[in-house]
Amino acid sequence: MANHLKRRTLIGLMTAAGMSAAVPLTLRSQPADHGSDIDIRRARFPLIEGITTTGLVSTLPDAPPPVIRMRRNTPYLARVTNRLDDYTAMHWHGLRLDNAMDGVPYLTQFPIAQNESFEYELFSPDAGTFWYHPHCMTMDQMALGLTGILVVEEDEDPGFDAEVPLNLRDFRLDGNGEWIDLWTARGAARGGTFGTIMTTNWRTEPQYEAPSGGLIRLRVAATDTTRIYRLFLPDAEAKIIALDGHPLPALIDMPRTEEEALVLGPGQRADIALLMPQAEGQIATLFTDMPGNARVLARLVATGASENRSLDNLLPLPANPVPEPELAGARREEFVFGWPPEGDIPNNGLCGSLPYTFWSINRTPWAGDAAEAVGPLATFRKNESVIMRLRNESPNDHPIHLHGLVFRPLASNKRTLPPYWTDTVLLQREETIDIVFVADNPGDWAFHCHVIEHQKTGLAGFIRVIEI
Ligand code: C2O
Ligand code: CU
Ligand code: CU
Repeated sequence: MANHLKRRTLIGLMTAAGMSAAVPLTLRSQPADHGSDIDIRRARFPLIEGITTTGLVSTLPDAPPPVIRMRRNTPYLARVTNRLDDYTAMHWHGLRLDNAMDGVPYLTQFPIAQNESFEYELFSPDAGTFWYHPHCMTMDQMALGLTGILVVEEDEDPGFDAEVPLNLRDFRLDGNGEWIDLWTARGAARGGTFGTIMTTNWRTEPQYEAPSGGLIRLRVAATDTTRIYRLFLPDAEAKIIALDGHPLPALIDMPRTEEEALVLGPGQRADIALLMPQAEGQIATLFTDMPGNARVLARLVATGASENRSLDNLLPLPANPVPEPELAGARREEFVFGWPPEGDIPNNGLCGSLPYTFWSINRTPWAGDAAEAVGPLATFRKNESVIMRLRNESPNDHPIHLHGLVFRPLASNKRTLPPYWTDTVLLQREETIDIVFVADNPGDWAFHCHVIEHQKTGLAGFIRVIEI
């Protein structure tokens, strides 16, 4: 693809002639820059066609949170101002940044009050697809829409003809576009409470234009609080080039059928190189499998004369500078995810609590964001190699997420795992996975399930990395 380096364009602002739903400016993106002002505010948007839902939370008054673009190894100043009448704090999921900028209330900063700002000095040694969401009033503000994609650009443009961010998430609305309970105790104690409206970039089955025969980079982020996606692309050639922000050393064919689907749990991402159909008007469709039927997440309509690209000489993206752990002599710790011994109600200070305790790590339910004298689940020395055994003794899946560090899933008792780096691993029911990493980033790093109802009813904690 070297002879075809085109300036990447963000597409998707129009539909093909004759197509139905008009696609709005959902992909408005900040150009890669050194910073931006981000106001967290109430928003309105027609989540159901023809009905405007109010009470959403976004950073724009009438659109989803836009894609933020920054550059690798380049500081980015995000000045977050809280325009809500609730507290908040912003977290940058997957970035290996300074602990003080991680956005976790009480652990790394105080909650941001109404009309106050916090300046996040972001920095990322890694290029890839990441995302941002609040870590205070997390259940409400995420369910109401505050989940955005964060792109860290590679040093060199990898040469795609276009890039399409696909932010997958649900909303819980009735048929009139009014909010229903954002979560239920029944859901929180089991697999989570599912939305009623499935969206991509806040739209149902949106259609985007992409150049015929072009090589397109899909940046897919599962930002829903609950749903596990099972993705497949039946009518186009495509390869998975990165998972959870980190390039795959060997590309994987994108599944074409529901049986082989690519599973993305809450918090996970996939970068997919897609070869658009050659003929104008042909459509590539991204589906997710659901019990009983498959659902369309997005359609890409081929437009213009063919670019005649091919997937054949697609190279892996440049690797990110993740330190390689030493397995021999690595420090070993075990973490058990399951039910709590008894039902203490967490104290969440200003950041919202769900009045139940259903979950625990090592039999200890998270005592609440504002709880005093809560210690780390484990303490590691800086640059120590660590093997953490993650054991799920419950019949539900848990996307287990670690802040500030990236790890490699080594082995599972249920399946084979490709070699890759991640910040979020989907632990299936009764699965045990060993993960390995170098504890190279000092600080207190949140460690929790990314089904937010599980996180907020006990399945959370933190680990500490200390300088020696
Ligand atoms: Cu994506 Cu602790 O968060
Ligand atoms: Cu995170
Ligand atoms: Cu969970």
